[in-house]
Amino acid sequence: MASFRVQTPQRTYDAIVERGAIRRIPEFLPQKCGKVFAVTTKDVWNLHGSAFTQIPHNVIFFPGGESRKRISEVEAMAEQMLAAGADRSSVVVAFGGGIVNDTGGFLAAIFMRGIPVIQVPTTLLAQVDAAVGGKTGVNLVSGKNLLGSFHQPLAVLIDPDVLKTLPDREYRAGLYEIIKCGVIRDANLFRLLDEDIASVLAQEPAIVDRIIADAVRIKAEVVSNDEREGGLRRILNFGHTVGHALEAETQYSRFLHGEAVAFGMRAATVLAERVTDLKDAADIDRVIVNYGPIPSLKGISAKNLAARLVSDKKTIQGNVHFVLPTKIGEVTVVSGVDYAQVLESIEAVLGGG
Ligand code: GLY
Repeated sequence: MASFRVQTPQRTYDAIVERGAIRRIPEFLPQKCGKVFAVTTKDVWNLHGSAFTQIPHNVIFFPGGESRKRISEVEAMAEQMLAAGADRSSVVVAFGGGIVNDTGGFLAAIFMRGIPVIQVPTTLLAQVDAAVGGKTGVNLVSGKNLLGSFHQPLAVLIDPDVLKTLPDREYRAGLYEIIKCGVIRDANLFRLLDEDIASVLAQEPAIVDRIIADAVRIKAEVVSNDEREGGLRRILNFGHTVGHALEAETQYSRFLHGEAVAFGMRAATVLAERVTDLKDAADIDRVIVNYGPIPSLKGISAKNLAARLVSDKKTIQGNVHFVLPTKIGEVTVVSGVDYAQVLESIEAVLGGG
């Protein structure tokens, strides 16, 4: 078992990486716990709902899908909770992928001004990113996660065993977030992903546990240093500036979040060659491409993507911020990048397919 402490002004808690962890939910419920609400999707519940057999609970089904990550769905779930007798002593268990973790966490953050949540992520992407660090939220038509709140969980229970039922495409989408962790903060992790790609793609348990633990360790360190993204936490957005634009441009329906981040990391890597004089660009690009393919980028306009960057929430006073590598394991945050260079970087990746 690996356990990583996340220490924030709001709450200190553990992110536990352990096979079988989904059955440990009762240990983390508060002593005076009211009703427990599992927020989940039908798919996840059918596969893994037995984790709740020892816990009296109500199930709230979220329809799933990035396009349903909207305030109207949160309202509908809150009404269902009230109808089932929820009150301020209730606890939400967000049991699913990143969309469920974000939406269920946000529901907990605003239900009766805030009730506790336990995050139990069941996709790789959610395990290594979305469920750790307290970011919760939903999308607006204009952009991703533009409504939200920081709401730190009581615990994050990460069970690599549940990945056995994950479709291959979803697994690879999660791997891109782990590649991100290597590029921003851990050259050893990056090299491991590069050299042991066959074992990683074959989901060999030892390497899967190791790379998840590395990514969660990095996320716990970063969030403990900067809960609210005033500084260090921004590095976690490597690939997300252009990635979010790609998701919005394709109505959140063509790419998984991790795939959009892969595209955004490639564009940021090209940009870094020009802006931070990055020498490792070819290595970074090769590893991202080797974990592909991402779906076709046909028909996507570089100009439209560049125009969308200004509505991203990381844009401050109209100034787009880019997280750019300086070498593998280190990044810097740059603003005021020339529009033409941004456009060229996006065009370079679109042209490369
Ligand atoms: N997904 C980036 C963060 O949690 O800050």
